[in-house]
Amino acid sequence: MRRALLRRAASGLALALGGGVAWLSGRERLFARGAFAEELTLTPRQTEGPFYPNKLPLDTDNDLLIVNDNLTPAVGEVTHLSGRILDRFGDPIRNALVEIWQVDHAGAYLHEGSANRDRRDGNFQGFGRFLTGSTGEYYFRTIKPVPYPGRTPHIHFAIKLRGREKWTTQCYVKGEPRNEQDGIYRSIRDPKARDAVTVPFEPLEGSTAGELTARFDIVLGFTPEM
Ligand SMILES: [Fe+2]
Repeated sequence: MRRALLRRAASGLALALGGGVAWLSGRERLFARGAFAEELTLTPRQTEGPFYPNKLPLDTDNDLLIVNDNLTPAVGEVTHLSGRILDRFGDPIRNALVEIWQVDHAGAYLHEGSANRDRRDGNFQGFGRFLTGSTGEYYFRTIKPVPYPGRTPHIHFAIKLRGREKWTTQCYVKGEPRNEQDGIYRSIRDPKARDAVTVPFEPLEGSTAGELTARFDIVLGFTPEM
C-alpha cells in the first residue's frame, strides 16, 4: 500500500518536473509537455561517397590510431570522438553499428581509388566500428579530419541497424572556413540541419599532449524495432 502511494507520488513529481526527469522516456516527456514540444532536429543524411573501404582493414575496432598491436600510432591531432545515436524523441538506440571512415593526415583513404595513396600513413586504421549499448553512446579515438582536394575536412558515418538500409552522413568541424565552399556541405540548406552535423573540436581538459574532444549526436528520423 505504502509502496504504491510512493510510486504514485513519484510519477506525479515526474510529470511536474517535465523534461528534467530521467525515468521518463523521451516519448513520455513529449506527451507530458505537449506533443512535439521538444522534438529534436533530425541529423541530415549525406552521401556515402566513393571511399568506403573497398577492402576492410584487419583491425576494425574503435581505436583508429593503432592498427592491431603496432607500437607506432597514426600521425595527426588525436581526437576523442563520441556521441549518442538517438531516435527523434531523444531516446537512445541500442545495437546500432556505428562505422566511421576518413582520410589520414596525408589525405589518403583506405581505398584503392583514393588520391595520395603513395603517401598513405600505414599506422592509421582509416575505418572503425562501434556497437551501441543501452545508452546509445559510441566512442572512437581518431584524428581530427584534414581537407583533401575538393573537400572540406569531414568524417564519414554509417549507421547500420538490423532490418534497415544503412544510413550515412558526414560530420564537419565547426569554424572551418572551407565548409562554406564545400558542395556536399552546402547541399544541406536548413541552417539547423547544418548545425546538427557541424561540431566543435575542442582541447581535451587536462591533456598536455594537445588532444581534442568532439561530440556528435546523431538523431534518426525513425525508431527501430527492438
Ligand atoms: Fe570523404
